[in-house]
Amino acid sequence: MNSLIPLVIGHRGAAGEAPENTLASFQLALEQGADGIELDVHMSKDEEIVVCHDPTLDRTTTGSGRLRAMPLSEIRRFDAGSWHSKRFQGERVPLLDEVFELVPEHILINIEIKDSYSGLMETKLLDVLRKKNRLNQVVISSFDAQCVRHTKELEPEVKVGILYNSFTNNHVQFAKKLGVELHSLHPHYQRIGKGDVSAAVAAGLSVYPYTVNAIEDIRKMIDYRVSGVITDYPAKMVELLKQSY
Ligand code: G3P
Ligand code: MG
Repeated sequence: MNSLIPLVIGHRGAAGEAPENTLASFQLALEQGADGIELDVHMSKDEEIVVCHDPTLDRTTTGSGRLRAMPLSEIRRFDAGSWHSKRFQGERVPLLDEVFELVPEHILINIEIKDSYSGLMETKLLDVLRKKNRLNQVVISSFDAQCVRHTKELEPEVKVGILYNSFTNNHVQFAKKLGVELHSLHPHYQRIGKGDVSAAVAAGLSVYPYTVNAIEDIRKMIDYRVSGVITDYPAKMVELLKQSY
């Protein structure tokens, strides 16, 4: 995936314009021409994988409390769209399965594991991906290096990436030190330079910086020749690419 034209990856869907991590947000990202979407996952009490950034319902739904302490049936009672605007009233916290029903197989899905739940998340997530036959469609990433390693050990076929916001002057070394075959680096966009990107790509790594929203920063990432840009505004980046090519 190391093309000269970076992939447009909609962060939590099109979170700049729709309630993050909802089916409406993913749908909007697709309509805007995104090549991929990024989403965050947690687990319910009954071990279902749900799409939500925070460990609790409080910020993005009408409910409150920890996702892990609630069965799916309870999580689904709450509205995940009305906090954003009336237009999105009725959205629910999606099940990961529902995202696969919505998103065509040629669209990259970057699944960010927010909590490994002592390794249970990796096992359950891989079960879902195998059952849905979507192992090749996804890149699984996490800030938790142990979780990334565990995922790859459980399923060598799946692509994994490491998220980080730390300073390093050698991103390739940083990747190697993790001791697992990485598909991609997912750095904060202010932590990389053009030389870092070319060294990583030359070492066979894809580079997907997050979360790049200002037009001048998106332009800079395109100039750096990153593999994909994770942005809340897929439409903005699609427009920019149209003007440039
Ligand atoms: O995966 C990129 C980005 O989503 C990581 O940070 O907090 O937005 O999940 P966060
Ligand atoms: Mg995320």
